[in-house]
Amino acid sequence: MELIKNLEWRYAAKKYLDKVVDDATINQIVEAINLSASSCGIQPYRLFVISNPEIRKSLAEGSFNTQIEHSSHLLVFAGMNRITSDYITTYVAMMEQQRNMESGTLKGFEDTLITHFSTQTAEQNSVWSDKQAYIGLGTALIAAAELKVDATPMEGFDPAKFDKILGLTEKGLHSSVILSLGYRDAENDYLAAMKKTRLSLDEFLFYIK
Ligand SMILES: Cc1cc2nc3c(=O)[nH]c(=O)nc-3n(C[C@H](O)[C@H](O)[C@H](O)COP(=O)(O)O)c2cc1C
Repeated sequence: MELIKNLEWRYAAKKYLDKVVDDATINQIVEAINLSASSCGIQPYRLFVISNPEIRKSLAEGSFNTQIEHSSHLLVFAGMNRITSDYITTYVAMMEQQRNMESGTLKGFEDTLITHFSTQTAEQNSVWSDKQAYIGLGTALIAAAELKVDATPMEGFDPAKFDKILGLTEKGLHSSVILSLGYRDAENDYLAAMKKTRLSLDEFLFYIK
């Protein structure tokens, strides 16, 4: 399976070359993320692709993760703060339209979602959105590896700073997790030559037959 080889190849890069990933490659990674599964299928997060150097410099201030600034692109996965009834109604209408269904066909589904999310707390909505954003992150790691683009998933950043600089709060979003993309600086990255450490399947896996 080619995927296993790609996953063995990838690692969380600490240092990147000063080399840009071209737009077509970035677009393929973005497309893969957009195709990720999400619970209820309503994609409750948005993706920001940031290449602007000044913005990245200010996002990186105070973080130990130099990759925020020094990599080709920075992806910010931003979860929704609330899953509103309006959002559900609009999304379900899009589903009906894309599947050539008559308007109202999915009304039962829509009502179930509205009841479910409106009776949750804001924190529950927000945490659920984060979980879906992390599925997108996983897809991005796999897509990048297939394209031989290096990537670093990161939680080591200041979400309040990101939310402010990127204007996420006004959009009803918050930064969930981030990912840098680029090409590894194998000569200067101490991790580049290190062996991957993982549990043996004996320890990791339980079969219940
Ligand atoms: C959600 C998440 C958050 C992470 N946060 C950081 C981070 O802030 N900085 C960093 O250098 N690596 C970060 N990592 C990378 C992990 O340390 C790395 O994936 C792990 O050690 C396994 O190594 P590998 O990815 O190189 O196989 C994070 C990974 C994940 C999945």
